[in-house]
Amino acid sequence: MKITKRLQEIANLVPKTNTVIDIGCDHGLLGIYLLSIEKCKHIIDADISEKAMKSAKKNVEKYNLEKKTSFFVTDGLKEIPYQKEDVIVIAGMGAHTIIDILKKEQKLFQNLILSAHKDIPYLRKEMVKMGYKIIEEKAILDKKWYIIMHFKKGKVDYCKIDYILGPFAKQNKEYIKYLKEKEEEISKKRKKKTETLLLLEKKT
Ligand SMILES: C[S@@+](CC[C@H](N)C(=O)[O-])C[C@H]1O[C@@H](n2cnc3c(N)ncnc32)[C@H](O)[C@@H]1O
Repeated sequence: MKITKRLQEIANLVPKTNTVIDIGCDHGLLGIYLLSIEKCKHIIDADISEKAMKSAKKNVEKYNLEKKTSFFVTDGLKEIPYQKEDVIVIAGMGAHTIIDILKKEQKLFQNLILSAHKDIPYLRKEMVKMGYKIIEEKAILDKKWYIIMHFKKGKVDYCKIDYILGPFAKQNKEYIKYLKEKEEEISKKRKKKTETLLLLEKKT
């Protein structure tokens, strides 16, 4: 099956496991792809929207994967019978929604693949406060730039620039060039250099 470059990169970061829980699964395509490449044996598709779940179910049926997929219409992980070794994917939401979902859970998960469409430095900071560290991070261009991060339990203390640019993403020259141009535009409108631009000027 064909999926977007962004979903492909999310799938690449998912470690091989028994169950993957896709929170905010929408169309359910990630789960279908993960089952098709045998990254996992079972998918839990969860979404707060009934409409999204209908679309996920339709796609799962199309690929005959109903026996390997469970569906939950719920807010975050509420009422999902998860095990701490399940891999959690949350992609395509704002960082505040992702953090709200994770803060409601008592336990720390072994593997989380997260991709927020905004407030990424906040996501990194809150995840570190909760007891996670980034073990892999990709900055990918798929029409626009996306950051995808793999978190595991662990203590870490990143410096300011790592929270803003990403401890791994900062190595990606094309991504840094894009960030700099974006911050220059914002600074121009505000007639004052943003903190991120000042940090980027120091770095590059
Ligand atoms: C932009 S879509 C992203 C779909 C897919 N994860 C992706 O990356 O392509 C965001 C999805 O998250 C769902 N969503 C938003 N808030 C949620 C929450 N608190 N719990 C579960 N799903 C949520 C929305 O209904 C929507 O289907």
